Amino acid sequence: MSDESKKGVSGYGSGGVETVISVEEVTRQVAAIAEGTSPDKLSALVGGDAFVSIENLRAGYGKMEILHDVDLRVGKGQSLCLIGPNGAGKSTVLHSIFGFTNIFSGKIRIGDGADKRDVTALTPSEKLSEAGIAYILQDKSVFPGMTVEENLWMGGFLKDQPAEAKKSAEMVFDKYPRLAARRKHLAKVLSGGERRLLEISRALVMNPEVLLVDEPSIGLEPRFIDMVFEILHDLQHRDGKTIIMVEQNAKKGLEFADIGYVLVSGEVAIAGAGDELLANPNVGALFLGG
Ligand SMILES: Nc1ncnc2c1ncn2[C@@H]1O[C@H](COP(=O)(O)OP(=O)(O)O)[C@@H](O)[C@H]1O
Ligand SMILES: [Mg+2]
Repeated sequence: MSDESKKGVSGYGSGGVETVISVEEVTRQVAAIAEGTSPDKLSALVGGDAFVSIENLRAGYGKMEILHDVDLRVGKGQSLCLIGPNGAGKSTVLHSIFGFTNIFSGKIRIGDGADKRDVTALTPSEKLSEAGIAYILQDKSVFPGMTVEENLWMGGFLKDQPAEAKKSAEMVFDKYPRLAARRKHLAKVLSGGERRLLEISRALVMNPEVLLVDEPSIGLEPRFIDMVFEILHDLQHRDGKTIIMVEQNAKKGLEFADIGYVLVSGEVAIAGAGDELLANPNVGALFLGG
């Protein structure tokens, strides 16, 4: 285990956190500084029309409700980062958007203006093939015994024609020569950074509009963390993808994202522009190791 991943297990910040406080204590302290997040405020952060919106979402696993009345808005080509203590429900928000949870009430909508579509009840494969939403799976999702190119083709398994998946894979290789150089190698020989690149690239084979990314920096050495954020930056700013991410490295996540939400106990406690949250002393004290 590298020094960096050891830090990731205990700290909430980006390293340099000397004192580690318990999840319960963080939850209590955030509740005390919660600022209230009206739907109007969330819309104002987007500036214009929201491309992805969540309204009054109650969702969880089995009968257990994890998210209590969550609202979220992000514009087309914008990025939003969820931060918060362990167990707050951050991953559950992404799971809900993709269709992995039980949704008890509320709506998830995606699209521009008149094309806005209610996708609340779509299955994950419909989300990917019809609604243009991709969930980037990490760690154990790469098939170690398959080559890089075979892994990419798997990303296109929902396409009607296998040839289409191969064509999309070539576009990904054109974009990332680093991956192209490894196309015939087995995925298990990739470095941590290359594997994360493959995980992201595999989602791109379906040419999604919205990327759901859960903790892109987890388990990576610092030089690869920067590489992954550069790739995400490029996907947002050059390709116009909309990105909703969860990041335990709150500093990196908020530096990256246009919009940040602090999620606590299944509710949005604080919302602001990414740089606003970075500058918020309460957020700093709890999540930025400051
Ligand atoms: N598949 C699951 N089945 C049941 N409970 C789950 C599942 N995944 C997460 N939970 C529970 O949901 C809560 C929120 O988890 P999660 O969204 O993973 O938090 P975070 O990503 O903020 O750390 C936790 O109490 C966790 O135990
Ligand atoms: Mg999580």
